[in-house]
Amino acid sequence: MKIYKWGILAPGKMSGKFTAGLKMLGNAGLYAVGSRDAARAENFAVQHGFMKFYGSYEELARDPDVDVIYIASPHSYHYEHTMLCLRNKKAVLCEKAFSLNSGEVEEMIYESKKQNTFLMEALWPPFQPFYQKAREILASGRMGKPLHLNGYFSFIPPFEAEDRKFNISLGGGSLLDIGIYPVIDALTYFGIPDEVKASAAFGPTGSEESISIIFRYNDGRMATLYSSFRTNVGIGCDILCEKGNVIASRGRDMNQRVTLRLHSGEQDEFVFSPPAMGYHWEAEEVMKCLDEGRTESSVVPLSFSLDLIRILDQVREEAGIVFPGRDRVNEE
Ligand SMILES: NC(=O)c1ccc[n+]([C@@H]2O[C@H](COP(=O)([O-])OP(=O)(O)OC[C@H]3O[C@@H](n4cnc5c(N)ncnc54)[C@H](OP(=O)(O)O)[C@@H]3O)[C@@H](O)[C@H]2O)c1
Repeated sequence: MKIYKWGILAPGKMSGKFTAGLKMLGNAGLYAVGSRDAARAENFAVQHGFMKFYGSYEELARDPDVDVIYIASPHSYHYEHTMLCLRNKKAVLCEKAFSLNSGEVEEMIYESKKQNTFLMEALWPPFQPFYQKAREILASGRMGKPLHLNGYFSFIPPFEAEDRKFNISLGGGSLLDIGIYPVIDALTYFGIPDEVKASAAFGPTGSEESISIIFRYNDGRMATLYSSFRTNVGIGCDILCEKGNVIASRGRDMNQRVTLRLHSGEQDEFVFSPPAMGYHWEAEEVMKCLDEGRTESSVVPLSFSLDLIRILDQVREEAGIVFPGRDRVNEE
């Protein structure tokens, strides 16, 4: 069994959670940490048991012993950091949102092919048992035809103008941070929409803080999607079908639940509590692909990431969300 030497690029909050997942995997070696600040890299390395630490991302990417790098910097840096790692022939697992716009994601995919080096967006949902259960229920025909999807994710973080969630120059706003999940729900369960409508509300920094989206499908299905940093509705997706409703929800602790409420009165419920919040499955998939000599995952194919970011571009264009200097669509 090959032990893969993992590097962590940007040791923030999410990197801590992801590392807890890595620790569950026998073939994941906790090797190196790269931060903009050597002391932060050292703290993270010591706290989690990594062997090496670097005070720059470049040194991490250039370390010849690193096999694979997990990128968890703010959204606006995913393009730059992914390109840095790929150009140094490091396999990359990069957090969502993959980048700020589809042009950048196209270039990241091109670079992965050019370097013949693995690339995957760190999408949590496709690996989770509640997603798989909901898909299985819909495919079984038990609920009849799905007609409408209502997806939502909102919570109220403390307002800090410089925080990546509110700072436009870091790709802030609810859409790329949490609204991406209801969009993934719609793409997963219903596919690519034929029409996209969206409207947003903006906060004091100019970043989008609430967004409502409508997807229309030519066969009559619709999806209403919502995310916000101003309300606290939780995280879920109601799929309204001919014979009843499927409610797929999760807590912020990532515990998961699929509830069936049939119009007949019949009810059913499935509850899942994955270890390490279910983050280890993404790393496991990366190493499985590397074992098999593949440069792309079939669970999160790059074509899905491209579809996703193209839809997010359309949503932003409809809602007037602009990332200054990074927005070919809206600034032309
Ligand atoms: N999959 C999930 O469930 C999930 C959940 C939460 C977040 N995420 C994603 O994970 C990524 C990171 O989120 P997070 O919550 O961990 O963010 P965070 O705590 O703010 O950490 C981001 C890190 O990026 C680095 N960084 C580089 N340039 C920066 C800049 N100009 N300003 C601020 N930080 C900068 C910092 O590390 P150094 O300065 O030490 O290098 C910082 O610790 C985002 O893409 C987010 O969407 C995913």
